[in-house]
Amino acid sequence: MENEAKLAAGAAVSLGIATAALVVLPYLQVRDIAPPAQLKPYTEAQQRGRQIYIANGCVYCHSQQPRDRGFAPADAERGWGRPSVPADYTYDSPHLLGTMRTGPDLLNIGARQPSADWQLGHLYQPRAYVPESNMPAYPFLFRLRPTALDGDRVVVLPPGIAPRGQVVVATREALDLVEYLLSLDRTYPILPGLDPEPAAGSAGPDASTAVPGVATGVAPEVETGAARTAGASAQAARVPTGRS
Ligand code: HEC
Repeated sequence: MENEAKLAAGAAVSLGIATAALVVLPYLQVRDIAPPAQLKPYTEAQQRGRQIYIANGCVYCHSQQPRDRGFAPADAERGWGRPSVPADYTYDSPHLLGTMRTGPDLLNIGARQPSADWQLGHLYQPRAYVPESNMPAYPFLFRLRPTALDGDRVVVLPPGIAPRGQVVVATREALDLVEYLLSLDRTYPILPGLDPEPAAGSAGPDASTAVPGVATGVAPEVETGAARTAGASAQAARVPTGRS
């Protein structure tokens, strides 16, 4: 009996310590963080798009957490934006931080690739834009029609991608998903130290080769090739650079 009491007490203490360290302390750390002024709550369409993102498993290949230069120098060089901070996720429930990066980080994709046409076409067929892409196509988010009907959002595709004699029309789901993707833009300044562009003099060893603000989108293991696509110039132009 004595042993059982000790066992129960030990278990309770372990659980108590774990709860304090993993639940209570983090909660105390973030509960008073105010949302950044430039961060807008998601619209209804964007919320629906977020659910489509979850339902289609985008989070299994895409993170939403550009990391600190000291921890992952390549993140800034890839044009993924400044390291994210807790306030960036104020309206994210559940959060979609992700743990895998088969594809690029998407926390700032709305700034990097603001073209809805590109986003829709890329969802319909990623390989129309990035030939070596291993991202799945999502044709079931689109409809094929012989001709567009009134109110149809026809997807502008590179030549030869739409089936012959048909037009590709985006469903509500595809449009909502793209609304959500375009809302992913946390490029507003937060703290001076979190700028992706290192201040002169404080440059790290890789700074000479880095091209701040240019989205290559290509990491050796990521194989995005996105910068070689039609959207590349738009990407490069809109990438978060040091606004302080
Ligand atoms: C099996 C892994 C995988 C899944 C699942 C996946 N992607 Fe991707 N995604 C990639 C890869 C790899 C790339 C880079 C090549 C390319 O652009 O197609 C990419 C690129 C992208 C890009 C362009 C990023 C940039 O910086 O140019 C967007 C946007 C994107 N994915 C959105 C999505 C969405 C939305 C979903 C879910 C509907 C999704 N992906 C599901 C692997 C994936």
